[in-house]
Amino acid sequence: METEVIAFDIYPKKVDVEYRNDSFRPNRVSEAFLKAIPKNLDGLVVDDIGSGGGVIAIIEANRGALEVRAVEPADANYKLLVRNIERNVLQDRITAYQGVFFDPIAHLPRADLISADVSGIPEILSRALGWYPEGIPTGGPKGTEITCELLRRAPKFLKTDGKLYFPTANDLLDAEEILQVARDNFKVVENALWSKDELEKWKLDSAKSEGKLWKSPEYIWFHLREEDMQKIDRAYNGAVPKTINIQEIKGRYFWRGQIYVATQPKI
Ligand SMILES: C[S@@+](CC[C@H](N)C(=O)[O-])C[C@H]1O[C@@H](n2cnc3c(N)ncnc32)[C@H](O)[C@@H]1O
Repeated sequence: METEVIAFDIYPKKVDVEYRNDSFRPNRVSEAFLKAIPKNLDGLVVDDIGSGGGVIAIIEANRGALEVRAVEPADANYKLLVRNIERNVLQDRITAYQGVFFDPIAHLPRADLISADVSGIPEILSRALGWYPEGIPTGGPKGTEITCELLRRAPKFLKTDGKLYFPTANDLLDAEEILQVARDNFKVVENALWSKDELEKWKLDSAKSEGKLWKSPEYIWFHLREEDMQKIDRAYNGAVPKTINIQEIKGRYFWRGQIYVATQPKI
């Protein structure tokens, strides 16, 4: 199988990571994650759960994390994770573990920060659009299952003053279900992607722009092509679940994603 090297130019420096057709390819959610996570992780212990080929773990180490524990269940991803850690000469700071959730690191001390970019797209949709190659677990039938389970398990692996970052594919599933589980397990759950100042600025600019500015910075916006819409329709035999709520704007299709940060674990 052919290996492709992708360059990620994300603070603090460009990194090269290897991917293959049978592994998960990092996308704009991975990039949004790295926008949400602090630029300075000096001395912190980080758990990167759902590490894939490791791009987030590698950049966390480059941001100063003392130790990153990268957990990934899928064989193809795990092999690339190990290779990518070596490629970036970070073996002394990132350890790869194969397994689900916190299982392989449950015996280790709690983390200061958890990045949990676990699968969060519904099974039928992930496979129909080719976003998840065979062998890579998806978010489950509804798409919420893996993220909700992660949030239930996470409190006892995070320090009381630690932070956990997680994504939601808002227009593709019931994001409120995920947020409810987050609030049941953490005292504070907030949007991690935008500051109130950024949103205020966007509101002022969009009021002046006569509707030209429609992409609120509150979300990550993903474009879907007409053929993607047809694939979705076919995959669900025309009965697309109500929780899939794709936005049609000016004849184009979009779904919105979000990154949240949960703090003050309820233990
Ligand atoms: C959306 S991909 C993200 C990969 C990587 N973070 C990136 O940015 O490229 C989700 C990852 O979560 C992994 N995953 C799925 N179920 C998991 C579980 N129960 N525990 C840990 N990781 C899981 C998948 O194998 C996949 O690699």
